[in-house]
Amino acid sequence: MTDPVSVLTPHVQAAMAAAFGPEWREADPVIRPANKKQTSADLQVNAAMAAAKKVGKPPREVAAAIIEHLDAPDLVESVEIAGPGFLNITLKGEWIASAATDLLTGDGLLPPVTPERVIVEYSSPNAAKEMHVGHLRTTVVGDALARTLEGLGHTVIRQNHLGDWGTGFGMLVEHLLEVGEDSDEAKLLGSDPNAFYRGARAKFSATETSTDADSFAVRARKRVTLLQGGDAETLRLWQEIIDLTKTYINRVYAELDISLTNDDLAGESIYNDEFPGICDALEDKGIAVISEGALCVFLDGYIGREDKPVPLMIRKSDGGYGYAISDIATLRHYSLDLKADRALYVVGAPQNMHFRMAWETTAKAGWVEGTEPIHVQIGNVLGSDGKILRTRSGDLVTLQSLVDAALARAAEVIAESRPDLDDVTRKEISDKVGIGAIKYADLSISHDSEYTFDLDRMVALQGNTGPYLQYATARIRSILRRADSVDPSGPIVLTEPAERALALRLLDYGSVVAQVGETLEPHRLAAYLFDLAQTFTTFYEQCPVLKAEDAAVKDSRLALCALTLRVLVEGLGLLGIESPDQM
Ligand code: ARG
Repeated sequence: MTDPVSVLTPHVQAAMAAAFGPEWREADPVIRPANKKQTSADLQVNAAMAAAKKVGKPPREVAAAIIEHLDAPDLVESVEIAGPGFLNITLKGEWIASAATDLLTGDGLLPPVTPERVIVEYSSPNAAKEMHVGHLRTTVVGDALARTLEGLGHTVIRQNHLGDWGTGFGMLVEHLLEVGEDSDEAKLLGSDPNAFYRGARAKFSATETSTDADSFAVRARKRVTLLQGGDAETLRLWQEIIDLTKTYINRVYAELDISLTNDDLAGESIYNDEFPGICDALEDKGIAVISEGALCVFLDGYIGREDKPVPLMIRKSDGGYGYAISDIATLRHYSLDLKADRALYVVGAPQNMHFRMAWETTAKAGWVEGTEPIHVQIGNVLGSDGKILRTRSGDLVTLQSLVDAALARAAEVIAESRPDLDDVTRKEISDKVGIGAIKYADLSISHDSEYTFDLDRMVALQGNTGPYLQYATARIRSILRRADSVDPSGPIVLTEPAERALALRLLDYGSVVAQVGETLEPHRLAAYLFDLAQTFTTFYEQCPVLKAEDAAVKDSRLALCALTLRVLVEGLGLLGIESPDQM
């Protein structure tokens, strides 16, 4: 790690060990950025307060003892004891400058990790239904996590757990058969799947209570049995529906620049054959019991209304399988076949209990080995009324309509800011800006909290937005173009406070990304990039780059520009956001 906290930590640990004994070698010295309102120092070490009780000395004395033993002359410029016993540390400018130069000229910006196999299951829409705003957020957050973990050097296995199985397919197959596979109605599956779904649903509802022995509803129900029984013609029609669904979702992924491909598709249907065996095994192991005709698992600690235990329904009393068993099979596959160290499920928060119960059952059955399943909970997207975003007719807002609206707003913004560009170039830029705006809005807020969808705010070029960060990259590119400096490599020398602040912030990049890899919280990276862009702006206001008088100062400032650009572009890339060349 290049960040000062990581570099300083072992020095403080060594000082504590020398002062108080070897057991302090591994203690966390609790180093944080210093409070800029109170001190000009860079870092604050809180170790003395935490250690005082154990050491049996007042914190300020502990602090003094740490200073006495601190041996980091290349790193530390000065230390002072403040308040009840913090250490305020000012770093050496030369150290910051050479660390920043090393980062610029080194191989990569990210620290090495111990590589893990990580499943990232995300997006997971339902076949023959349009993706809605909830899927947008799981898709965007999941893609950012997959890219970030991959960037850190982990082996990422993407899984798109498509909802491609279940009783609903009876009516869909029957509807497809009726309208004809080559009909325009069938083609809707690839363009406007909700319309196709509604067509099937309407026929089903209209005939549900009919006494006609050959009604649509009756045939749809028979289709379910045929599908589950593996009837070849029914499976072929089902496959047709899935293929058209793929066309639809791949178009959405292409438009949103999402890194999922057909190879990542792992729909619910792939687990179907395993269900009878899972039921038998759970019963044999005494984990599941028959209750009112259904096969259920009762787990400790899941108590519902009237103090009744909440069952996890494995097989319904009519013999059908529910959602729970599909996730038992899924985790077993992730663990025993794919040998994941971590399995991330990027899915809406309301499904948390379902996952916890399914996973506990899977573990009880002995089907989880060395895998930690993690539910990356996704919060709801709200409308301006504070309620879940819906259309006027009460449907969930479709993903496509949001994307279209964002692209249209971005086109207006760029038309205003760059009237000089030709239409094609402008559209290229505004598409990236519109998509960047949507993604950043999803990613800049912690994934489990709700947020209010506000198109005007998210496409704004000012404020904590995707377009602001994209604009920052375009501006730096333009500085470098004007400097005719293809690949500035410094060395970085720091004289002005704004240069120093920028260099310091740049050194934190690797540790922030590493943190995202552990906490699975992309908003930490978003917040860092925003702060970096602002720190850059202050630097650029205070330190002339192209007009710097001294050639060495100019080279150094160009190098700071180049490193900032690399960090911003790479960081946005990990979030799945493209940086246009100009804006
Ligand atoms: N298809 C589901 C939905 O749209 C999400 C699937 C989540 N993943 C899982 N392993 N259950 O709500």
